[in-house]
Amino acid sequence: MTRTVVTGGTGRLGGALRPRLLDAGHEVRATSTSPPADGDVEWVTIDLRDGTGIADAVADADVVVHTASAPQGDSEAVDVEGTKRLLDAADDAGVSNFLYISIVGIDEIPFSYYEHKLAAERAIESSPVPSTILRATQFHSFVDGVLGTVSRLPVWPLPTKIRIQPVSVGEVADILVEHATPEPAGRLPDVGGPEVKTVGELATSYRRARGKRRPIVRLPIPGSVAGAFRAGKATCPDRAVGTVTWDAWLDEQYGPGESGATNPSATPS
Ligand SMILES: NC(=O)c1ccc[n+]([C@@H]2O[C@H](COP(=O)([O-])OP(=O)(O)OC[C@H]3O[C@@H](n4cnc5c(N)ncnc54)[C@H](OP(=O)(O)O)[C@@H]3O)[C@@H](O)[C@H]2O)c1
Repeated sequence: MTRTVVTGGTGRLGGALRPRLLDAGHEVRATSTSPPADGDVEWVTIDLRDGTGIADAVADADVVVHTASAPQGDSEAVDVEGTKRLLDAADDAGVSNFLYISIVGIDEIPFSYYEHKLAAERAIESSPVPSTILRATQFHSFVDGVLGTVSRLPVWPLPTKIRIQPVSVGEVADILVEHATPEPAGRLPDVGGPEVKTVGELATSYRRARGKRRPIVRLPIPGSVAGAFRAGKATCPDRAVGTVTWDAWLDEQYGPGESGATNPSATPS
């Protein structure tokens, strides 16, 4: 039985990985800074920021699937330095395959979180620990969270021209589980959802699915980061291997929206 550690076991991706790894017959240990009291797997408290619990978390592990991340926090401490700490512990523990989930376009978008993800990738690639790296586009559930926050406003100010390619977190988890073996695969082909959409199109579908009618207004964001997103640098249309569209995901999540509320002509440009 493969002993597999999932860092960030409480996260969107970590939560999708746990049941899939169990179904695939893995012995699963999951980590969190604040684990749930019970559950289907062994939980270990770690903090990548200061190294708490890392050696215990990876002791005896065959495979580590590293999904823990702090995009809204100190991502240099957690994603870069924390990943290096985790790699050192994985090396000491003789881990056979260190899987890392990364993001499509991080080397072309000068966004500080992405720069930290890229530094983490480079630390993994230069480590003696055998590894597998998968870059994915944005998860549906992540886009849903962002739009959910904006949807509380009376008017939705959004960078409508930014292009992204939402993907099912479950399909990303399936690929990682397939590679959660003692055989490292290096850098895997990128994975993206089935369609590239503008934020304006995504928000229009979201508004329909939630039965809302608030206006979507274009928020012009200057600068190279937004420019790179508008240019589609976070997408991989040649790797549109995901099968779940944004509209299908919304219908699954919220049920079919109000009939007749979808009006393509109302999509902001
Ligand atoms: N979200 C996306 O659309 C997307 C797309 C492509 C790739 N990715 C990558 O996929 C990974 C997972 O994303 P996600 O959306 O599932 O993230 P998430 O839901 O924000 O989960 C992040 C996880 O990191 C853990 N964590 C945060 N700070 C930590 C610390 N100091 N020490 C240890 N653990 C810590 C959290 O655990 P606790 O809070 O329980 O401690 C949580 O389980 C990230 O590396 C991300 O870059 C995400």
